[in-house]
Amino acid sequence: MNALTGKKILLGVTGGIAAYKAAELVRQLRGAGAEVRVIMTRAATEFVTPLTFQSLSGHPVHLDLLDAAEESAMGHIHLARWAEVVLIAPASADVMARLRAGLADDLLTTVCLAATAPLVLAPAMNQAMWLNLATQDNVAVLKARGVCLLGPAEGVQACGETGPGRLLEPAAIVAALASRSGAGSLAGLRILISAGPTREAIDPVRYLSNRSSGKMGYALAQSAVMQGATVVLVSGPTALVPPSGVEVAQVQSAADMYEAVLARAGHADIYIGAAAVADYAPETAPHKIKKDASSLTLNLVKTPDILAAVAALTASRPFTVGFAAETQSLETSAQGKLLGKSLDMVAANQVGAGVGFEVDDNALYVCWPGGETRLPTAPKSKLATQLLTLIADRYHAQHPVKNS
Ligand code: CTP
Repeated sequence: MNALTGKKILLGVTGGIAAYKAAELVRQLRGAGAEVRVIMTRAATEFVTPLTFQSLSGHPVHLDLLDAAEESAMGHIHLARWAEVVLIAPASADVMARLRAGLADDLLTTVCLAATAPLVLAPAMNQAMWLNLATQDNVAVLKARGVCLLGPAEGVQACGETGPGRLLEPAAIVAALASRSGAGSLAGLRILISAGPTREAIDPVRYLSNRSSGKMGYALAQSAVMQGATVVLVSGPTALVPPSGVEVAQVQSAADMYEAVLARAGHADIYIGAAAVADYAPETAPHKIKKDASSLTLNLVKTPDILAAVAALTASRPFTVGFAAETQSLETSAQGKLLGKSLDMVAANQVGAGVGFEVDDNALYVCWPGGETRLPTAPKSKLATQLLTLIADRYHAQHPVKNS
């Protein structure tokens, strides 16, 4: 049994000389135990026949969006739901441009739009096409949306030129999918993450909130999914698009977040409190407050501490990770929270002008009972992956039997 056993992989094959290598890829994916269904673009059929893929995958190849017979057998929505991973190999410059634009002008792009499964692209094209700014721009946007890129490799190309643009070898693609799919250090774990700010209503039109963008929590959710976890994200109001493959519960206030998190915490293996929860909330006026008075005093009441409540669960307590945003005494405050709230780990970051909130980079001081480390300034996506590795290590140290 390996990481790809029983995995439902929808393989998109686009037009390019490397399409012939996709045939070997299907053979190897099936050899690794995966179930494979193939969608070919019209251009791909100019390079390899659908019959080749039908024979190797053991299923009819899907070609057309508007083919009534095909839609009644396994339509595009059904295909999108069936897939646990959508892999496009080779992915042409054209398909990446169409995916970036969100087009649905053929079966493959339509299925990609409808699928919630992770999308993995293995590009293959002439090196100048790959290096073209238009392609690089498309790649950057797709990556920012959580699309995973495998390759391309460098070397001599079919056109005789040398450079980046070769399709990764099928064995390397299979190995990369296997390491994403099951062998990931978080494979099989259920992770609950809170993210973003909360909004505490003053009256029906006004609220108190904070500068949290939610980026760290969303980056953690994305990275956890990529490492094989099942992720639920409880999010305060943010401008971010939730990563695909993540279940999201949107909330507004600290009280809403408390309810949403506590309702799910008992089913989670790990809870990460990355939200910037308001510590105090005003008593909400039932009607819009008028500016009649020369001054106005808000009476703020302490909100429930979600993190402390999760850490205090007696039955089914998840491994509990807190965040600390500090303007001073970072390490002492983090250690204080670790002990004070009986946490398994605290990730602390400095906040202030231009650091911590609303920015893409961050640095973390991380501590746990008996240990500490520093993760230097890096994009939040990279920090999220590093922090999850620490969490996975500590979690597995506490649960040596599970998942081994
Ligand atoms: N947190 C929470 N519920 C609250 C407040 C905070 O779950 N009502 C969580 C946050 O998600 C974060 C951690 O607690 O993981 C932050 O700890 P907290 O003690 O609230 O930090 P500060 O407000 O910075 O604390 P203090 O000013 O007391 O140092």
